[in-house]
Amino acid sequence: MSNRTFTMVKPDATSKGYTGGIIDMMIKGGFSIKAMKWTKLTPEQAGEFYAVHKERPFYGELVEFMSSGPIVAAILEKENAVEDFRNLIGATNPANAAEGTIRKKYAASIGENAVHGSDSDENAQIEGDFFFSKLERF
Ligand code: RTP
Ligand code: MG
Repeated sequence: MSNRTFTMVKPDATSKGYTGGIIDMMIKGGFSIKAMKWTKLTPEQAGEFYAVHKERPFYGELVEFMSSGPIVAAILEKENAVEDFRNLIGATNPANAAEGTIRKKYAASIGENAVHGSDSDENAQIEGDFFFSKLERF
């Protein structure tokens, strides 16, 4: 069990002005911010980040969406971070997301679902390393 996870506020949410509200839910959910940046992915970078989904039918759409506008990337810390954060963001499809979750409040659809959360300790490490150098985290 690791105490860190990785997240992104996705382009649908940054463009609608939801960034502050989403980060507020992360902090109120007990997560502390260990690194954070506002940036924009190229299609190549988005494709590399989501390479695990290369064979899925929605891959092209996902890459286009994730490079369509700014994102906020962050490393978050809390005990049992990966699992607890997946619970805080809610189901991939906001129609199935529980009350009180970030996706229930802010996500528009299964594709444009406001926020990313790592699905394992191993991926949390890989994804954090994708965005942040040693100088940018503590
Ligand atoms: P994420 O990785 O972004 O935290 O989302 P997740 O684990 O809940 O869902 P995952 O299966 O990893 O899918 C990654 C992202 O791809 C988009 N997606 N679109 N149109 C579709 O059927 C579909 N399915 C997935 C979503 O943006 C999803 O978050
Ligand atoms: Mg995922």
